[in-house]
Amino acid sequence: MQLNKEINKRRTFGIISHPDAGKTTLTEKLLLFGGAIQEAGAVKSNKIKKGATSDFMEIERQRGISVATSVLAFNYKEKKINILDTPGHKDFAEDTFRTLTAVDSVIVVIDVAKGVEEQTEKLVEVCRMRNIPMIIFINKLDREGKDAFDLLDEVEQKLGLKVTPLSFPIGMGYDFKGIYNVWEKNINLFSGDSKKNIEETIAFDDVNNPELEKIIGEKAAEELRENLELVYEVYPDFDKDAYMKSELQPVFFGSALNNFGVRELLDCFVEIAPPPLPKKAEERLVKPNEEAFTGFVFKIHANMDPRHRDRLAFIKIVSGTFERNTPYLHVRHNKNLKFSSPNAFFAEKKEIVDISYAGDIVGLHDTGNFKIGDTLTQGEVLNFKGIPSFSPEHFRYINNADPMKAKQLDKGINQLMDEGVAQLFTLEINNRKVIGTVGALQYEVIQYRLEHEYGAKCSYENLPVHKACWVDPVDSNSKEFAEFKRVKQKFLAKDKQGQLVFFADSAFSIQMTQQKYPNVKLHFVSEYK
Ligand code: G4P
Repeated sequence: MQLNKEINKRRTFGIISHPDAGKTTLTEKLLLFGGAIQEAGAVKSNKIKKGATSDFMEIERQRGISVATSVLAFNYKEKKINILDTPGHKDFAEDTFRTLTAVDSVIVVIDVAKGVEEQTEKLVEVCRMRNIPMIIFINKLDREGKDAFDLLDEVEQKLGLKVTPLSFPIGMGYDFKGIYNVWEKNINLFSGDSKKNIEETIAFDDVNNPELEKIIGEKAAEELRENLELVYEVYPDFDKDAYMKSELQPVFFGSALNNFGVRELLDCFVEIAPPPLPKKAEERLVKPNEEAFTGFVFKIHANMDPRHRDRLAFIKIVSGTFERNTPYLHVRHNKNLKFSSPNAFFAEKKEIVDISYAGDIVGLHDTGNFKIGDTLTQGEVLNFKGIPSFSPEHFRYINNADPMKAKQLDKGINQLMDEGVAQLFTLEINNRKVIGTVGALQYEVIQYRLEHEYGAKCSYENLPVHKACWVDPVDSNSKEFAEFKRVKQKFLAKDKQGQLVFFADSAFSIQMTQQKYPNVKLHFVSEYK
């Protein structure tokens, strides 16, 4: 009973956006509503500022801040809300993809002037693949931007979503007057002159009420009525089932900076967003209210202090309760581990807790036992699905630049790969090691950390690879597969899990290979079964 009650209170979600759309500002305003912080400016942006992309200290600073903001928890309307931080910088996109395996829903922030941007497209695609319920928040309405209907069209087309606005703006930019809340049927007026967070909410069941003119003026009233007519005509009614299946996405408008439209978003969120959901393991579906604890590692954070090489492993609790000083099975190592100081997160603080429930995140001190995707249970052998690797964008050979430190280098590379900093491949033909990353920035992070944390030096050599494709033969004993392996020998490697990968040097080469060897399937994601 108690377990069910606790689990049903939890809402664990992520905010995703293209950098600068307002994710940090919105997070902060949500925390203010929860009373978790007292003033604006308390949540530091964890993004790497423009122009600082190759500055080591900036990378280190960023790592430090993002430990603090990895999970931001607060209470609101009797719900315990866990916001999981997702780095916006595209070089850290893989981190974000992995964090998305630990959320039960997301809020997508879009800049009203810029519309749907590249990073939003990529992240939403991942959410769509996983049927994660999404709410969309169109931000910066205090600025001049795109027409609301055009934006809704853009969201549908570029992101492949089906939307229904639950609020609608009255004017925009200089003329921004407020928002009609379709969900609550009221009008929220924006005090544009002072740009303060004065909120006036007027109940308005019927927009045909002539009072409307008095409040927002004749022109705006007429426009709003026309717009709402169109909204009701064109967009489907909100349907919670469809939202939960990720088949319909509600849209809100507002201005995070001015704290406008944020309460509406949050109120709707706590009402519709899902509590912890069941999760698929290779063996079976695990439900959150099962008594026995299960969880998995979705993120590993290295210590800021290079002298202490301990790390913080972030576990999403999938079922049951996680208790301090209780032995749990580390499934991959088949050994029991006990944790004396598990961290729970509240606002921007972390503290040691005795008990955490499904839906929560705990941070465990780790001296190298964990890697991303590891499962902990109360004894059952389970392996949670859903932490795929995507093909990296950049590939470089990694060479040892200090022959006396070969061991340190190996250890460092292995640990950094376990953290998910980049992907390691070993070429079949000569056993050379290749590091694949999403952004060039990672190479500098790796080099810097190898030197400062492991005392090892490395150098890189470019490798002209377009994409890594995971190889999946229909029949691994076939002649066709043997021929493929012989002809492509120079381009084959193993990933860290020992899966076979084909390094294609161009899109054309992928196409040709697929034509020539139709029974050797090529995938761009490591987890394709
Ligand atoms: P991010 O985490 O998605 O990258 O975005 P962040 O919240 O840091 O916001 C990016 C910029 O947009 C910030 O300005 C922020 O103040 C501004 N912003 C956020 N919400 C709104 C809004 O509703 N209206 C307007 N007009 N601006 C908004 P900055 O100048 O880049 O940073 P800062 O110096 O203010 O921190």
